[in-house]
Amino acid sequence: MKPDGRKIILPDQEVPKQWYNILPDLPKPLPPPIDPETREPVKPEKLKPIFAKELLRQEMSTERWIPIPEEVREVYMTWRPTPLYRARKLEEALKTPARIYYKYEGVSPPGSHKPNTSVPQAYYNMKEGVEALTTETGAGQWGSALAYACNIFGIKARVYMVRVSYEQKPYRKILMESWGAEVLASPSGRTEFGRKVRESDPNHPGSLGIAISEALEDAVKHENVKYSLGSVLNHVLLHQTVQGLEAKEQLAQLDEYPDVVAGCVGGGSSFSGIFWPFYYDVVSGKAPKEVRFVATEPTACPTLTKGVYTYDFGDTAKLTPLLPMYTLGSDFVPPPIHAGGLRYHGDAPTLCLLVKLGKVEAHAYDQVSVFEAATLFAKTEGILPAPEPSHTIRFVIDEALRAKEKGEEKVILFNLCGHGYFDLKAYEEYLNGNLQPYHYPEEQIKKTLENHFRQYPWVRELPYLQGL
Ligand SMILES: Cc1ncc(COP(=O)(O)O)c(C=O)c1O
Repeated sequence: MKPDGRKIILPDQEVPKQWYNILPDLPKPLPPPIDPETREPVKPEKLKPIFAKELLRQEMSTERWIPIPEEVREVYMTWRPTPLYRARKLEEALKTPARIYYKYEGVSPPGSHKPNTSVPQAYYNMKEGVEALTTETGAGQWGSALAYACNIFGIKARVYMVRVSYEQKPYRKILMESWGAEVLASPSGRTEFGRKVRESDPNHPGSLGIAISEALEDAVKHENVKYSLGSVLNHVLLHQTVQGLEAKEQLAQLDEYPDVVAGCVGGGSSFSGIFWPFYYDVVSGKAPKEVRFVATEPTACPTLTKGVYTYDFGDTAKLTPLLPMYTLGSDFVPPPIHAGGLRYHGDAPTLCLLVKLGKVEAHAYDQVSVFEAATLFAKTEGILPAPEPSHTIRFVIDEALRAKEKGEEKVILFNLCGHGYFDLKAYEEYLNGNLQPYHYPEEQIKKTLENHFRQYPWVRELPYLQGL
């Protein structure tokens, strides 16, 4: 390894020209999404009122490489290629022989990895004449990214923001509005489903599942309005691979290759974006060594570590197809005391399959230990990390300390997929000692899923997950 260098920056023209699609390289075929009406795999026509045609094509595509339109690359060049940093100050503080690298996605205008997909999604919708996009947002990162992208391509953005975040993070709302988006606290009075939830509980804190239901209902009921999702689906994850593709090039300039690639998981897009290109190296025999892929999540929303692998809906109103995934149940409502982000009840089917098959490890961390790691990172590296990737920082610190104990020169790569400058309320809670190390109760997961299987007993009989 070359000894110098705190960061590697690539020139604009090194923005990748193709996205990598993992579908042809999965160890087993991805179980299909199921239409709850027919109990058969969903027909693409059913999704046409919801998604742009090109995005549906990408969703089903088994092509390994998908070209990135030049107009999209040009927008990417506003902030891409993003820097790859060596975390030297953190390494020094830990006195570890491990070499820690992070790909910093917080340099994008909305402050996270999310515009890697919002920009192509808005672009394809604009090309197909769509006038407005609806979406949900939890922490506000995805809503900001969609507002940013829609503004560039001249389409309207309507964002249903989980109420608890709407109240905790007023500045995210102002950012979205500055880019011209309309932002509604969800459950809202705008949709039938939102009104129903509000009637049953006027103080409902909201959840991503509910906000997705509202955004979907809005898109389906209005002409020339489509829906945009910021995670979980194949086309979203493949857009995110610009991260891993660039990181590979940046590490190559240092003659480095990771032993471990880690990321946080809300729905799985940022982590997939960094690890897929390395996974491709492994399955195609190009990787110079074995690589561990590590997903991190909160103990307050332990989808991969405590959830059940089955078919479940992506939203609370059960408007989406049934997806093959680890789930806590689509009625899951995360506790408002949870400050750590990553609140979705399910995860990307591709990621869930890889976890199920033992190709990806998953670890859960409580929010107090996560903010401890985040503040150590801020004190050493300077950047205040978003709560979501701070789960990964917790893992990375622990892994670097294990490497120290064993005297191993491990190379660890993770993506710092967003900054935390809009998450100061959560930092304030932590600094004032108000955060609890919350673990979502296992009995609650059991109860929610029993309810799911009572309502949809045939889900257990579906042939697609058998043998997995
Ligand atoms: C900074 C950041 N990282 C991660 C996530 C989780 O989503 P995903 O797993 O799709 O990356 C979010 C979600 O909003 C986020 O804002």
